[in-house]
Amino acid sequence: MTCTIVVGGFFGDEGKGKIVSYLAVKDKIAVAARGGVGPNAGHSVVWKGKKYKMRMLPSTFLCDKSRLLLGPGVLVDPTVLLTEVEETKTALRVGLDPQCAIIEPQHIERDRGSNHLKSRIGTTGTGCGPCNEDRIKRIGKVARDIPQLEKFLTDVPFEVNKAISEGKQVLLEGTQGTFLSVFHGSYPYVTSKDVTASSIAADVGVGPKLIDDILVVFKAYVSRVGGGELKGELSNEESDKRGWSEIATVTGRRRRAAPFNFELAKRAVMLNSATQLAVTKVDVVFPECKGITDRNRLSDEAISFIKRIEQETGVPVTLLGTGPSVEEIIDLRS
Ligand code: GTP
Ligand code: IMP
Ligand code: MG
Repeated sequence: MTCTIVVGGFFGDEGKGKIVSYLAVKDKIAVAARGGVGPNAGHSVVWKGKKYKMRMLPSTFLCDKSRLLLGPGVLVDPTVLLTEVEETKTALRVGLDPQCAIIEPQHIERDRGSNHLKSRIGTTGTGCGPCNEDRIKRIGKVARDIPQLEKFLTDVPFEVNKAISEGKQVLLEGTQGTFLSVFHGSYPYVTSKDVTASSIAADVGVGPKLIDDILVVFKAYVSRVGGGELKGELSNEESDKRGWSEIATVTGRRRRAAPFNFELAKRAVMLNSATQLAVTKVDVVFPECKGITDRNRLSDEAISFIKRIEQETGVPVTLLGTGPSVEEIIDLRS
C-alpha cells in the first residue's frame, strides 16, 4: 500500500489522465486528490469508448470506489466542477477543501483581457493566474464562501493523511508539467505556481516523508502549447507528417511538437526525485506498437528508446502508453 504522486515531466499534456486512470483501475486507488493549479488543465480519459476531459476532478473517477478530493492548493471554478460532477455522476464521492480558492468570472475576464497574459504568455484564459494573484493578495474567495459547494466541503489534508495511515492506496494527481513551473520552468512562459512533486504534496497537505513513489510522466516526444522556447521544434508540416500534431484539450489550440528531449527528462527526474517513469504515445512514435499490452511484442526500436531513457535518467520506466484508451498500456512493474 503506497502513496504515489503523478506529475508531468515536460510542458503538460504528457498523458497524466491516461496513466492515472489506468492506475485507478489496476491498483484500486481508494483515495485520490488533485494538486496543481486548477481548471487550466485538461486530463483526457478514454474509457469504454467515451472521452472525458477532466479539468477539476481526479482522473481516478472511473474506479467507483475511489474518493475524489481537491486539495486546498487547487483553484476551483464552481461551474466547471459542478458540470464535471454531473457528467461523471460522482457527487457522493467528491470532497473539496474549504480553503480551495475560487475562480470568479472577473478572473477569467482579467486573464483573457490582458495582452501580457493572453498574447505574450499565451495562457489558457481560464482565470487561474488572476485567481492566484488574488489569493496571494489575500482578497479572493475560498470554497467555504460559496453555498453551492457546501455539501462537498471536507478536511482534505486530514482525509488523505488518515487514508495513508490506514494503509490505503492513495494517489496525488499533479497538473501541467515540470517546465511550466513558475520556479523551475522557462519563466515568464510558465503557469502561476510551482507544479513539481513537492508542491503537489503541499497542495494536498501531505508531508514529504509519507510519499512512497513519484511517477513522472513523459510523452515519447515533447509538446508545448502557448509561448516559450521548444528546443528542436518541428514545422507544422513535419509534425503533421509524423502524426505528432495535437489539439489542446482546454483551449483547442494547436500543440507545438519536438523530439524527446533527454536533457529536460534528466532535469525533470532531478526536480521531482522520480522513482518511476511512464512514457505515453509510444504508439505514435513507433506505430507497430499500437494497442499492444504485452512487453514481448515491443519492437526493437521501441525497446532501445526506452532503454536509453532509463540509462540517461537512471530511473526505471514502468508504464508505456500504446494508445489513448485506459487499457492500451504495457505495465512493466511486475
Ligand atoms: P494536463 O494536465 O493538461 O497537462 O493533461 P494530461 O497530461 O492528462 O494530457 P492530455 O490528456 O491533455 O493530453 C494527452 C493526449 O494524448 C490526450 O489526447 C490523450 O488521450 C492522448 N494519449 C495519452 N496517452 C496516450 C498514448 O499512449 N497513446 C496515444 N496515441 N494517445 C495517448
Ligand atoms: P495559465 O496556466 O493558463 O496561466 O497558462 C500559462 C502557460 O501554461 C501557457 O503557456 C499555457 O498554455 C500553459 N498551460 C497551462 N495549463 C496547461 C495544461 O494543462 N497543459 C498544457 N499547457 C498548459
Ligand atoms: Mg492537458
